[in-house]
Amino acid sequence: MGLGMTLGSHLGPLARSHIEQADVVFAGLSDGIVEMWLNQMHADVRSLQPYYQEGKSRMQTYRQMVEAILTEVRAGKRVCGVFYGHPGVFAWAPHKSIEVARSEGYPAHMEPGISAEDCLYADLGIDPGRFGCQHFEASQLLFYQRRIDPTAYLVLWQVGLVGDQSLARFSTGPAYKQVLVDVLARDYPLDHEITIYRSATLPIQQARIERVKLGDLPQAKVEMEDTVVVPPAAPLQPNAEIRARLAELDRAEGATPVGIL
Ligand SMILES: C[S@@+](CC[C@H](N)C(=O)[O-])C[C@H]1O[C@@H](n2cnc3c(N)ncnc32)[C@H](O)[C@@H]1O
Repeated sequence: MGLGMTLGSHLGPLARSHIEQADVVFAGLSDGIVEMWLNQMHADVRSLQPYYQEGKSRMQTYRQMVEAILTEVRAGKRVCGVFYGHPGVFAWAPHKSIEVARSEGYPAHMEPGISAEDCLYADLGIDPGRFGCQHFEASQLLFYQRRIDPTAYLVLWQVGLVGDQSLARFSTGPAYKQVLVDVLARDYPLDHEITIYRSATLPIQQARIERVKLGDLPQAKVEMEDTVVVPPAAPLQPNAEIRARLAELDRAEGATPVGIL
């Protein structure tokens, strides 16, 4: 289940009851204070944080997390994995744990939470339905041939460690971010203003909302918890051919077009 991003604010009653009724709770949280808060809700909370180690492949870490969770499931316990944000958003271990549990015949359920994505829509005043919104893991955008639509929003996750092919680092330096900028520069001007965003994880904090030019991103401080938001750089292009086809249909059905958003 997802604990949401901000301590105390995002945990619903259903998710809370899942925690309270579990025999064992595993915690994949981003903040030590949030982990202390969770510890008060249950007597057997086991942190997944020690599995992370600089120099160790994240895939190995995630597999060990899944194994730790499944070991208790196989022992017949009711197990709750608590992850910050939404447990199914840019998170491998929660999806895998559910998949493996079900494949072995155990019932498993994912309870959604409020993710960084939800917070950024609120904090930055963005409606993803206005122009559309693409989400990419930043490294995947570099490792594969992808098509970006610069008329929509672009949200980049894990920019703090962009380009890390070892999967073993917690951060990468300016030269790696420069590669990201070079890829983005195919679709965006270098003076395009982008936002480095971090939602509050404690109620006393303010969100980080820092605007920089795309070309200055390599020198900007971007950490593991930051998400980068690139607003549209070009207007939507009307599709005359499809509009004409739809107008034909409207005429045949006696509908009167009143304009398009
Ligand atoms: C492994 S993903 C986990 C996302 C999480 N499951 C969620 O629902 O938001 C980690 C990435 O989430 C984003 N992230 C994590 N904490 C954040 C925060 N406080 N504010 C904004 N983005 C955050 C960053 O892009 C970070 O690299």
